[in-house]
Amino acid sequence: MSVPADQLARVVSHPLLAVHLTFLRAKTTTSGNFRRHLHEIARLLATEASRHWETETHEIETPLAAAPGARWKRPIALVPILRAGLGMAEAVSEMMPDAAIGHLGLYRDEKTLRPVTYYSRLPANIAASQILLLDPMLATGFSACEAIRILKAAGASRIQFLCLVSCDVGLRQLQSAHPDVPIFTAAIDPELNERGYIVPGLGDAGDRYFGTE
Ligand code: URA
Repeated sequence: MSVPADQLARVVSHPLLAVHLTFLRAKTTTSGNFRRHLHEIARLLATEASRHWETETHEIETPLAAAPGARWKRPIALVPILRAGLGMAEAVSEMMPDAAIGHLGLYRDEKTLRPVTYYSRLPANIAASQILLLDPMLATGFSACEAIRILKAAGASRIQFLCLVSCDVGLRQLQSAHPDVPIFTAAIDPELNERGYIVPGLGDAGDRYFGTE
């Protein structure tokens, strides 16, 4: 018997997430509002993903006295998969302003649904970094698998994958190829259609975010 899909990912559950996701799914949501709600969900997912990141003691001076503080132990790298992941990176970088942002450009060949890499630019210290790989939709899982392969080939080991909506097929694909990479998602939808879209999903995340529908 196979593992249920919701055990392959951390399904982040919070009423705020449920409400923002409903706006994202609704076809009447304008691209301006789509951006706002996507940003909120990305930040909630990143909050959860960073929950166990290590910090180190960092003493500072308040205007009155010395006080103990904390700073990240490792550099942080946000790696959006172009193009739809860019919106998530923009939102999360506001929470982690010193994070480096790498870019991976992958497009789906419409016939094979396989990823083709057309751009890759990663921070020099990627091997030492805590990495959030960002893509709103985990559909076939091919792009995420390829992105993780590229990151690992560059020396990365601390990778977490964040997506808004996922599906059974993509979760299984990603988990079997990269079982060491935790997946954080706001929802697991029931189907993937023959064109590689998640159903009910929210449509084409990149088109809706950038208003290019
Ligand atoms: N990419 C999208 O933007 N939407 C889907 O449903 C699947 C992949």
